[in-house]
Amino acid sequence: METIRRTKVVDILKRTDFGAVVNVKGWVRTHRSSKAVDFIALNDGSTIKNVQIVVDPSKFDENMLKQITTGACISATGVLVESQGAGQASEIQCSEIEIYGLCGSDYPMQKKGQSFEYMRQYAHMRLRTNTFGAVMRIRHNMAIAIHKFFHDRGFFYFHSPIITASDCEGAGEMFQVTTKNLYDLKKDEDGKIIYSDDFFGKMTSLTVSGQLEGELGATALGQIYTFGPTFRAENSNTPRHLAEFWMIEPEVAFIDKDDLMDLEEEFIKYCVQWALDNCKDDLEFLNKMIDKGLIARLEGVLKDSFVRLTYTDGIRILEEAVSNGKKFEFPVSWGMDLASEHERYLVEEHFKKPVIMNDYPKEIKAFYMKMNEDGRTVQGTDVLFPQIGEIIGGSVREESYDKLMAQITERNIPMKDMWWYLDTRKYGTCPHGGFGLGFERLILFVTGMQNIRDVIPFPRTPKTAEF
Ligand code: 4AD
Ligand code: MG
Repeated sequence: METIRRTKVVDILKRTDFGAVVNVKGWVRTHRSSKAVDFIALNDGSTIKNVQIVVDPSKFDENMLKQITTGACISATGVLVESQGAGQASEIQCSEIEIYGLCGSDYPMQKKGQSFEYMRQYAHMRLRTNTFGAVMRIRHNMAIAIHKFFHDRGFFYFHSPIITASDCEGAGEMFQVTTKNLYDLKKDEDGKIIYSDDFFGKMTSLTVSGQLEGELGATALGQIYTFGPTFRAENSNTPRHLAEFWMIEPEVAFIDKDDLMDLEEEFIKYCVQWALDNCKDDLEFLNKMIDKGLIARLEGVLKDSFVRLTYTDGIRILEEAVSNGKKFEFPVSWGMDLASEHERYLVEEHFKKPVIMNDYPKEIKAFYMKMNEDGRTVQGTDVLFPQIGEIIGGSVREESYDKLMAQITERNIPMKDMWWYLDTRKYGTCPHGGFGLGFERLILFVTGMQNIRDVIPFPRTPKTAEF
């Protein structure tokens, strides 16, 4: 018999040339058998949907059929027919089955309704479940949307380094990179490790942000964006933090605060619209199985303009809420860093819309943010989202060499590895700004998943680096 070329499940389900002989390959989701007929639901990852394989058990070896259990990988050939049953338009009347791989009864993804916590222990196998398939296909689509958004607007994709000698956010939460023998570290008279003989001849780490190099790109190419992995050794075991996450960081020359906030809003809305337009089947699945409010929430974000709120006005609203009896775990006062309970109160209860908060006290923000005339606040522009809290962190950058130097000195930032960054301010400085979107926080929002560990294939968090 002539071999039939494989058709992906996503394409088979669109075909209407009934009577054609077709071949599909994939993993068995369920296998129901009875005397007269067997039904195998087969999935190959190309779509959330399965194709139904109808098997006449009298035509196959009984023992062979019995072995085809959930998780097994098979190739099935047969005639594409219009389906008699409800739930699918077409199905395959099977004439031939080849088994690629059986799947024992100890297959960890066997049962339905297992908890996400349980599945995290089997992150290498959970990708084969409906939920993780849907999340990963959406993740791919969001990456495409991001490249398209920036490409269409004339931004250049700029590759910032992953290994760096500078701490962009100045929070000291970096993973060191070294080839030194940790059992035999050479130290100077003060007990400090000598790095001059290390691979790079200095102390280096994994980057927390591509922004500083991004600024070099923007002040040459006009507008750029980075999209790469970033690393933070913060010991935060929360459903919103990863030690390794992906960040998108556009940086734009000649942009002011209002235009920057416009760009942030337009960008997120574009991504959400893209998901609604391109991930319908997966979103409908997640809306049904994970979060009944998901699609309504995505549409809700597109409807209205985001609220633009200064930090000072935000604090006023929170203080009013407290005097009206609202209880927060952390007390509210001007100068504090907002906790996620405060962000979520503003977004979910007070405004019921996303908020772009701006003009923060300089003490709670990074050294590179542009100072306002009041000398107390800087032009940060963070986007706060329902369910998520902070999804974007951004700012206009301080373009004045003297003012930037003053912040660096005030904060005791070691300058020896930053001279190149300061050169942007020394040679043809220009007003500019940008922001960072946490990719996994966007995926959390778009999928309705509750834990950031469940929107990246293999999460890295404190004490977890399996797989
Ligand atoms: O607010 P952050 O720290 O800003 C920066 O890194 C700037 N250099 C960005 C820029 O202006 N170019 O981080 C930006 C975003 C946050 O709003 C959040 O969405 C995400 O990155 N993020 C994390 N996501 C997952 N796990 C973590 N540990 C994260 N830390 C930040
Ligand atoms: Mg931030």
